[in-house]
Amino acid sequence: MKDIKKLVDECCELMSSKKEINEVSRVRSRYLDEVTSSLKLMKDLDSAGKKKLGSEVNFAKKAILKHYQDVLESIKNKKTSNLSKMHSKSKFLPAAKVASGKMHPLERVKREAIGIFKTMGFSVVDGSEIESESNNFSLLNIPKDHPARDETDTFWISGDSLLRTHTSSVQSRIMQSNDLPIRVICPGRVYRRENDDSTHASVFHQIEGLLVDEDIKFSDLKGLLAEFCKEFFGEVTVRFRPDYFPFTEPSAEVAIAYKGKKNENWIEIGGCGMVHPNVLQMAGIDPLKWKGLAFGMGVDRLTMLRHDIRDIRLLLEGGSRFIEQF
Ligand code: PHE
Repeated sequence: MKDIKKLVDECCELMSSKKEINEVSRVRSRYLDEVTSSLKLMKDLDSAGKKKLGSEVNFAKKAILKHYQDVLESIKNKKTSNLSKMHSKSKFLPAAKVASGKMHPLERVKREAIGIFKTMGFSVVDGSEIESESNNFSLLNIPKDHPARDETDTFWISGDSLLRTHTSSVQSRIMQSNDLPIRVICPGRVYRRENDDSTHASVFHQIEGLLVDEDIKFSDLKGLLAEFCKEFFGEVTVRFRPDYFPFTEPSAEVAIAYKGKKNENWIEIGGCGMVHPNVLQMAGIDPLKWKGLAFGMGVDRLTMLRHDIRDIRLLLEGGSRFIEQF
């Protein structure tokens, strides 16, 4: 019978020399058996001897098991580090996933709408979000006492400048500076003092359209917008109802029949009309020779209808969990 301490040393050395887990396990079992079998000597010992042998055997078993765990751990670590070394060198493994951005639904709908108007011969122009009082109001025939000028509706910056309250301000710019005829659209952000709720936001988006040519009629405007709605929504019923805008005469509200879960609702998507002769005149265009049509559509409204979004604020918050759904 070998000395127990020697057995433990031998066992540990042997386990450390192995590279595979099952080999280490085999060594562990063999030596544990051998250590345990030394208990056979018990019967020939006095009680002090029995006690000593018992504790020696226990100690040996614990030492073997502890070393066994350590060896196992180091084999596992070696294996994973080899694996990751292999991975970092391999050309064939798929690359690590990179989080990618998504196009905002407003931007997507805006581009789609622009695409439709482009096929109708419109070109895209840019305006300015900071506007003069005259482009936003006066040149659009909005009289001094009109409620739209009220402090509660407009974000004034200083003196004559303000944050445009509609993209119609681009009409004033274009009519003054462009050669005739005109056929443009202008997408952009607009600002109004509103108490934000699920259908109102103080920042929202419009697409303005302006067409100035000889012999333009109200039926052209209706046909154009009906065609846009058909392209954008598919077969829908479009309704034009008389409305009032100081810069168009006659004016109309454009709505589509939207099939909700319970019933059909009319949802307004914008305003439109024939450019008021005063507006043409102020821009230096002869209203007897030239006629104009104009429209302004709510891009947020189009987006909410397209994706069944119930709260306009979601469009502005920029939450990634919201955007990832589209
Ligand atoms: N500017 C109007 C609005 O913001 C919409 C409109 C545009 C109406 C062009 C008529 C012509 O409500």
